[in-house]
Amino acid sequence: MSVTPLRQLALQGAAVILVLSLAWPYFGWQAEAMPWLETSVAIGGVAFLFATLSRQPWWWRLIHAGFMPLVWATHRLAIDPGWFLLAFLLLLLVYRGALSGQIPLYLSNRQTVAALDRLLEREDPGQVVDLGAGLGSTLIPLADAWPERYFTGIENAPATWLASRLLGVGRPNLQLRWGDLWSTPLGDADVVYAFLSPAPMSRLWAKAQAEMKPGSLFVSNSFPVPGVTAGEVIDVDCTPPRPLYCYRM
Ligand SMILES: C[S@@+](CC[C@H](N)C(=O)[O-])C[C@H]1O[C@@H](n2cnc3c(N)ncnc32)[C@H](O)[C@@H]1O
Repeated sequence: MSVTPLRQLALQGAAVILVLSLAWPYFGWQAEAMPWLETSVAIGGVAFLFATLSRQPWWWRLIHAGFMPLVWATHRLAIDPGWFLLAFLLLLLVYRGALSGQIPLYLSNRQTVAALDRLLEREDPGQVVDLGAGLGSTLIPLADAWPERYFTGIENAPATWLASRLLGVGRPNLQLRWGDLWSTPLGDADVVYAFLSPAPMSRLWAKAQAEMKPGSLFVSNSFPVPGVTAGEVIDVDCTPPRPLYCYRM
């Protein structure tokens, strides 16, 4: 688990420990049953305070405030725990990347695919790689538009990858692989496309520099490499803005 989720877990845990260490002895001393609704609301309040003091983004503060009261409310529904396990496993099949590397699933839009299409016309690459290919909705139209070029997508979420395989079937110039982008060699690629999140960009840049050949192009949708000036930034006509940051190796 990366640093941010661990920090949030520690923050919520600290609120739980603080409130319970006061409430349990107090109600035990009074020989009264613990008022779990009030206790969960108090934990939410303390967690919100901790999140505010440690300057977490507003949405993390809301999550901290609501988490324990929602746990209490869900507990009252007396749902069989097996359903939670099933829901967790189903989510994992699609959002594995969010859990393992803060890279969730969201898709490049049509305008971005059109901008990439123009970029391919200009670059004339033989091999194009999409790191974290999602449903293949970026590579499939490009593979159709450029049958003489070879497209490879790497995706680590099993259900997402399977859906991409079904959607992309019957295209000899398209390969959609189930795998980890970090163990994908980039030495043969002429253009590497990534639409990930801010979290992996520094590490990904180090990988691109170590493996990509001179003259090839690394393109990141929306997330620039920290501390490195892109050689070119292509503005894509969409809202919210989704610039393509291009780095020549
Ligand atoms: C923001 S989506 C982009 C999807 C697609 N490239 C597009 O532009 O429409 C990022 C994808 O990367 C996948 N992903 C996250 N970590 C990965 C990893 N270590 N290896 C391969 N894929 C990963 C996620 O599951 C998700 O489908």
